[in-house]
Amino acid sequence: MKAVILAGGEATRLRPLTCNTPKIMVPVLNRPFLEHVIGYLKQHGIGEVILAVGGVPAQVESYFGEGSELGVHIAYSTEDSPLGTAGAVKNAEALLDDSFLVFNGDIFTDLDLTAMMRQHRQSKVMATLALTPVDDPTVYGVVETDSRGMVTRFVEKPSPDKVTTNMINAGIYILQPDILHHIPPDAFCMFERDVFPTLLESGTTIFSYPAHGYWIDIGTPEKYLRLQHDLLRNPRERDVEFEGEGYVHASARIEGPVVIGKGCSIGRGCTIQGPAVLGAGCRIEEDALIEGAVLWQDCRIRKETRLKNCLVASRCDIGDASEVLDGCILGDDVLIGNNNKLCKGIRIWPGKAIEPGAISF
Ligand code: GTP
Repeated sequence: MKAVILAGGEATRLRPLTCNTPKIMVPVLNRPFLEHVIGYLKQHGIGEVILAVGGVPAQVESYFGEGSELGVHIAYSTEDSPLGTAGAVKNAEALLDDSFLVFNGDIFTDLDLTAMMRQHRQSKVMATLALTPVDDPTVYGVVETDSRGMVTRFVEKPSPDKVTTNMINAGIYILQPDILHHIPPDAFCMFERDVFPTLLESGTTIFSYPAHGYWIDIGTPEKYLRLQHDLLRNPRERDVEFEGEGYVHASARIEGPVVIGKGCSIGRGCTIQGPAVLGAGCRIEEDALIEGAVLWQDCRIRKETRLKNCLVASRCDIGDASEVLDGCILGDDVLIGNNNKLCKGIRIWPGKAIEPGAISF
């Protein structure tokens, strides 16, 4: 079965991380997110991937090419302007000839795709939708089903008093090529808002595949950080993992789970408290503390600085005795002068420089 991975969205909610980096390339444990997705699809026997994107981002092409290094084949389907989830699949019609999978490109899950494909084949329906339970369905597309698992209604972002189920559209569909006749060419069209509700109204059976395992979309910084904490804490995962050579001062304390990219240096008296990720080439200077944070590559964290539960993109330089705390996000190449205190989700855009002592709340 071929998989269409939808990756042509704007990724606005993940900014400033995605100002220079497409969402599928943001690193998760120091590897592009898409590499994790492709590994998952391969585990379920899917080796043909169609990446539906606006233009092909140079970073994607140079890292993944046609996929041979990962043992898959990647074809690119491009849109001049965003066509929506269904429009993007219609746009790839020439590449689709049999049942196919559609996968939102920002989902990480352990859902049993093999079982879902089996159910789809046996049921002979036009569409099977994966559903997943969430704590707060009011910000998602809720899917109601009957006792046999047939979809009965779609409710987009229901108000709390209208919530009838916590099962939401998981952004994973198995479809028959016939569905493409129900999607207009070269027009913006969404599966969840346009195609599926219209099919239901016309009496087409849509089947659900409820899954109760791990599922998260990395659409927001909080969830992007949470995924990495979850993976690091997974008992099958690592404790303290060095991805290559580097330098750690004898007095530094590193408590896992932590992933440390190659070429990092960790100075005298530093503490790295997991779950945390250091990208390749990061330099952590004396007495700095890093706890619960994810750093991309080549960052410099100067003396006595504290980073806690924050996201720091590539090549940031954080001055002496500064603090970057809960939910703060720094884009690429941000310079934070000495003695700044950033907390409560402050976002700093790529290339910005903050004067010493300028932020102190
Ligand atoms: P936000 O701007 O933060 O909402 O991000 P997004 O648009 O990337 O995410 P959204 O949750 O809206 O989309 C879910 C998935 O569908 C993401 O993987 C998107 O890349 C993808 N997607 C959304 N719209 C399009 C589109 O018009 N074309 C293509 N090819 N993919 C899309």
